[in-house]
Amino acid sequence: HRHLTGIEGLQPHEITFLLDEAEGWIELNRRRAEPDKRLAGLTQINAFFENSTRTLLSFEIAGKRLGADVVNMHVGQSSVKKGETLIDTAITLNAMRADVIVIRHQSSGAVRLIADKVDCPVLNAGDGSHEHPTQALLDALTIRRRKGSVAGQRVVICGDILHSRVARSNILALTALAADVRVCAPSTLMPAAIERMFVTPFTDFDAALEGADVVMMLRVQNERMSGGFLPSNREFAARYGLTEERLKRAAPDALVMHPGPMNRGVEITSAVADDKTRSAITEQVETGVAVRMACLDVLTRSARGVEGWA
Ligand code: CP
Repeated sequence: HRHLTGIEGLQPHEITFLLDEAEGWIELNRRRAEPDKRLAGLTQINAFFENSTRTLLSFEIAGKRLGADVVNMHVGQSSVKKGETLIDTAITLNAMRADVIVIRHQSSGAVRLIADKVDCPVLNAGDGSHEHPTQALLDALTIRRRKGSVAGQRVVICGDILHSRVARSNILALTALAADVRVCAPSTLMPAAIERMFVTPFTDFDAALEGADVVMMLRVQNERMSGGFLPSNREFAARYGLTEERLKRAAPDALVMHPGPMNRGVEITSAVADDKTRSAITEQVETGVAVRMACLDVLTRSARGVEGWA
């Protein structure tokens, strides 16, 4: 089976293929067209070991719109709490003959570990600081729809780059699609290997914003800090918060994005987040459902006897 554990390993034409597939679902969802139940009879298990609002709900809605039987494993009520290992949990899910498994886990690499143990496609819904591929796909599609193309866009990703799986997957996807990617963070929240990721690093947000076409803001991942640097909200907002004043440095039609959950008044002000013309934040959520429909469809095609990836 082919899995979706990350953007790493995907060819640019495969990313574009998934975006094209998702594009069609956006239109159908908007028109509330006759449901297309192509996953009828398939069982989709969403196993979320970490909290989620957007990703869990949109994977659930996506599976249901396509006719799958969607089951959510609630970790708080599961035997994980009794000490069951990740591998034993994976073997148990597999024995229930799931047709597709969606996993979010706090450990980087956990999704790959499960993918190697089961007999069905596995989709990564975020693993530790590693990858969040469907987020990057929905972000790329949002940019493509608003700007016409991803190639050549100057995209600034600002915030806790070090701990962010969203940043990592977006860097991989956007550079694969030939965007000009700038990353901005305090030096303590910048990965040491950033020079190898084909992006331009900045510690000065005002400098990074000059001429930006897209500004993608990230939350500080307090839950992933292992001691060391923890900026105060006030300090972070002063140097790295996106305000209306700061946004003037970007292109006049610059698009503002945030994967959520937002910490309003820290990395982004409400005036910017709620600006109906500049902010694409709710559009990102809408695009997310379509991207997840596309991924669930494409990854289950070989099991359904349909031709799969381009
Ligand atoms: N963007 C995102 O992954 O949000 P959730 O954590 O709410 O799923």
